[in-house]
Amino acid sequence: MSNHWSEYWRQGHTTSFGDALSGNYEGILQSVWEPTFSSLQTDFVAVDVGSGNGSVPLLLRESLSNSAKVGKVYGVDLAEVQLSENTKSENSTIEIELISNTACETLPFENESIDLYMSQFGFEYSSIESSLKEASRVLKRDGQFSIVFHHGNSMILNRNKKILRLIELPQASDLVEYLREIAIAMGSMTSANDIARIKQDPKCESIRVKINQAIKDLVNYDELSAQDSQLMMFIAQFFKEGIFWPLAKKQQFIEFIKLQMDTLKLRLTELVNASFDEDKLARFIGIFKQNLLEINEIKVLKNEQKEILGWYLDARKIENCEV
Ligand SMILES: C[S@@+](CC[C@H](N)C(=O)[O-])C[C@H]1O[C@@H](n2cnc3c(N)ncnc32)[C@H](O)[C@@H]1O
Repeated sequence: MSNHWSEYWRQGHTTSFGDALSGNYEGILQSVWEPTFSSLQTDFVAVDVGSGNGSVPLLLRESLSNSAKVGKVYGVDLAEVQLSENTKSENSTIEIELISNTACETLPFENESIDLYMSQFGFEYSSIESSLKEASRVLKRDGQFSIVFHHGNSMILNRNKKILRLIELPQASDLVEYLREIAIAMGSMTSANDIARIKQDPKCESIRVKINQAIKDLVNYDELSAQDSQLMMFIAQFFKEGIFWPLAKKQQFIEFIKLQMDTLKLRLTELVNASFDEDKLARFIGIFKQNLLEINEIKVLKNEQKEILGWYLDARKIENCEV
């Protein structure tokens, strides 16, 4: 089970882009799926692997909402995932079922039972050789294999590598440690008098100076990433909203910040390792034929500003071919 992803999906995000993308995918990361969705025949069965909280199944349902097509789309994820409340009860001819705690290396589907196997920023996190073999097993003959996956030089990777570098700095973990120290040093805080008291307190003052210095270092290092990491927002929340919280609540919040930073670090490290450069792509392409998959198209997806968003690969299951 993937605990850090479960923790992330429990917060109710629809995509893996967190607060940077409040709704579902849009732009090219939505439109790239349109031809695939519209070519599905009624009574189709589709599976989205590494589905998270169902962003791609939801795009599929929305895309076919005005058609009479009936179908089922499974979202499979190693983590604990769930459709958010506001997307659950819609009346639709397309049924979505998310299956948690399930690896795409061993799918719970019969041989040759799936019309469309897809993934957006999910497949590449798995053991790709086993997952490709498994995709081929479950796909019907002529079934479609279509994935969007991380490009090592995309704007997504470049931005997240910077955030990772920032939260790996000692100042980032020191900050959490200083919050722990100051929470204890402040003692009980109930009124403005306590604010005056801690300002006079040499211990609180020395920790406050260390906190300010760590913030300054991080912001000077990379202001945008410091904001993107949400660490600054958490610190501000601690001193604004949290200043009069009882010690136990302050400590709970600090543990929450620590968990957020640790899970972010894990997610971003996985992201970097999962991404594909051209050499890795070439090796990947090399194992399609032996899995009875014939590639139709590989392209780099770019946004309107011509920035790279990821790779797109489309293939079909064939009966047999020369290996
Ligand atoms: C970056 S998220 C993408 C989620 C979603 N497709 C999206 O675009 O919002 C990657 C997901 O892949 C899942 N994952 C990682 N390894 C997996 C595996 N071997 N089998 C199934 N899911 C996996 C993670 O738990 C995580 O939810």
